[in-house]
Amino acid sequence: MHDIIGDIHGFYDELVLLLKKLGYQNDGNSWGHPDRKVLFVGDYIDRGPKSPQVLKLVRNMVENDKAIALMGNHELNAILFNAEDKDGGYVRQHSLKNIKQHAQTLLQFANLENGQKLFDEYIEWLKDIFKLLYPKIKAGGRLCINIGNGENGKIPTVSDIIQVLSKDLNYLPFAQIVWDKGHTSARTAWGSWQSPSSPSFPTPFEFILIFAKESLKLKWKGETDLTKDEFKEWAYGLWKFKPETRKNDLGHPAPFPIELPKRCIKMFSWKNSVVLDPFMGSGTTAVACKKFNRNYIGFEIDKHYYELSKKRLKEV
Ligand SMILES: C[S@@+](CC[C@H](N)C(=O)[O-])C[C@H]1O[C@@H](n2cnc3c(N)ncnc32)[C@H](O)[C@@H]1O
Repeated sequence: MHDIIGDIHGFYDELVLLLKKLGYQNDGNSWGHPDRKVLFVGDYIDRGPKSPQVLKLVRNMVENDKAIALMGNHELNAILFNAEDKDGGYVRQHSLKNIKQHAQTLLQFANLENGQKLFDEYIEWLKDIFKLLYPKIKAGGRLCINIGNGENGKIPTVSDIIQVLSKDLNYLPFAQIVWDKGHTSARTAWGSWQSPSSPSFPTPFEFILIFAKESLKLKWKGETDLTKDEFKEWAYGLWKFKPETRKNDLGHPAPFPIELPKRCIKMFSWKNSVVLDPFMGSGTTAVACKKFNRNYIGFEIDKHYYELSKKRLKEV
């Protein structure tokens, strides 16, 4: 008889609890059960804090004939991320999203060097983008970056970006806004439950970092469309609004809610200014620009998302 377990995603402590609950015991070599085996149906890595420990536990069980393990799409993605294609690239694109995902998992392995290398590659990649953008911004213009830290605060992306932009690229730090995403669902992954051993700190917030070029003050006159109430609420370093939930309708895995570009463009630019978004995705920034009378320029590397955002814009 088999117990079917799937989607462990690096949550080692929870897996051990589950095995115990199902009557499995650890004989010092492997977890096992006198009468049953586990059928693991894949997705051992990514998201949770202990992917290497999960893989080791599962491997031991398989080698001791206590389990069968199938490969999940996350394992396949990890292999393809490292497999070179015939054009000198990688079968799984080293895009922003993919680099981030794999760096988090690799950082957990004993081979920290590789994880750190990937994370550094990600920061370098972002640095190149913001370096390219600098000459495109008018003196006195603003740059707004929505970014969060990785792996429950263990990967300090935000502080690295602040350092790179202000120290290496000459952007002037202007403001740091915390976006409280109002996450309220029940928690299950505590790290070490009721113990200081290794508690986990989920981050239901991201940052919106604001920088300026050459001057903290806008250098040209214009007309604002901020209402009194908007200004009173938004001129404060804590913004609270819900994330976008219509991923299926918009056809994109990571759209942000229109409230985000709306607040940024109204708070940091005059009417009829030009707004550039280097990562258009489903086109949310462009939609906000159209609604609130800004001109926009957008880049999107994926043709499918580009077409989707064009269609979305037509409907505004
Ligand atoms: C997090 S999404 C942006 C989502 C967007 N803010 C929205 O609300 O839909 C990042 C987007 O950047 C695109 N992207 C990644 N690398 C890029 C590049 N080098 N140039 C242009 N677009 C890129 C991805 O295809 C993805 O759609």
